[in-house]
Amino acid sequence: MDDRLVTSTLLKEDADEMNIRPQTLEEYVGQSDVKENIKIFIKSALIRKKPLDHVLLYGPPGLGKTTFAYIIAHELGSNIKTASGPSIEKSGDLAAILSTLEEGDVLFIDEIHRIPRFIEEILYPAMEDFYLDIVVGSESSSRNIRINLPKFTLIGATTRAGDLSSPLRDRFGIISKLNYYTDEELFQIAKRTSKVLKMPIDDEAALELAKRSRGTPRVCNRLFKRVRDFALVEGSNVITLEITKNSLDRLKVDGVGLDDTDYHLLMAIIERFNGGPVGLEALASSIGEESSTIEDVYEPYLLQIGLLKRTARGRMVTDLAYEHLGIKKM
Ligand SMILES: Nc1ncnc2c1ncn2[C@@H]1O[C@H](COP(=O)(O)OP(=O)(O)OP(=O)(O)O)[C@@H](O)[C@H]1O
Ligand SMILES: [Mg+2]
Repeated sequence: MDDRLVTSTLLKEDADEMNIRPQTLEEYVGQSDVKENIKIFIKSALIRKKPLDHVLLYGPPGLGKTTFAYIIAHELGSNIKTASGPSIEKSGDLAAILSTLEEGDVLFIDEIHRIPRFIEEILYPAMEDFYLDIVVGSESSSRNIRINLPKFTLIGATTRAGDLSSPLRDRFGIISKLNYYTDEELFQIAKRTSKVLKMPIDDEAALELAKRSRGTPRVCNRLFKRVRDFALVEGSNVITLEITKNSLDRLKVDGVGLDDTDYHLLMAIIERFNGGPVGLEALASSIGEESSTIEDVYEPYLLQIGLLKRTARGRMVTDLAYEHLGIKKM
């Protein structure tokens, strides 16, 4: 298992993960605007007895896009079929997936921005008018045949809405951005996880955990499990504030949820680039990270809490970052 707290790729989900994941809109904490709206669109679709319009969910990793897609299918009473952008390499791959769909199904495509453009085009008529044009036969006798598809709902998820081509983006009737969660919302998630995993946690401990979860439910759940490990090994069957603080300190997760990589990143800008501005590529190579990891995973949270800013000339640390790191600005 990857030890890092946040990753840009999907981790193999363990069995607990399935239980921790909320199943209904009621159980899904936070994102109230997105939730209220989708509730209405789902109700309307059910009244009209028509499939829900296609939905695009975007936002940083671990905020609950996949979870939300499953919940939408559940609330619609539909079956869900899943695929992911990188696994669709040939036009036949997509055609094969589409041809398994039944009336009213939800098709969830994760990392939808990674579908190659020439394949993406197959999706346009499928999304708009529910048909598929495919080429059959050998070169000399090849011909187009049109296959009608049952009416379905496509749910696309992406951490990079900007990477989606505009013709694809325009074919989603519902576009929702998921935002970082508040401490109060993460507190509720920690409490819920405590129930599911049957490991009690004190309120002040749950709040501490929430504050250190960088606004992200996945991080909150992962830290919960690690703090539980420390508690159990210490012979405690409840997670206290003291255990939480000690174990998170040992895991090098600071008071606002920054980890080693965040520190390296901020320190590199301060020490090697005099506080910035510095270009993404230069920054990435100076700390030995992929630029996409910085862009998708680390930077959004640092921007959100105001330690980093983006300017036309590159990334800069803010006065708040100097303060947070306890460094005097030169
Ligand atoms: N609103 C929520 N309420 C409670 N738990 C949540 C919520 N959103 C996410 N979670 C928890 O966080 C975990 C991560 O969520 P999920 O896998 O849906 O994120 P994601 O946005 O799809 O991430 P990625 O971009 O990496 O695919 C889930 O397993 C779930 O347990
Ligand atoms: Mg996901």
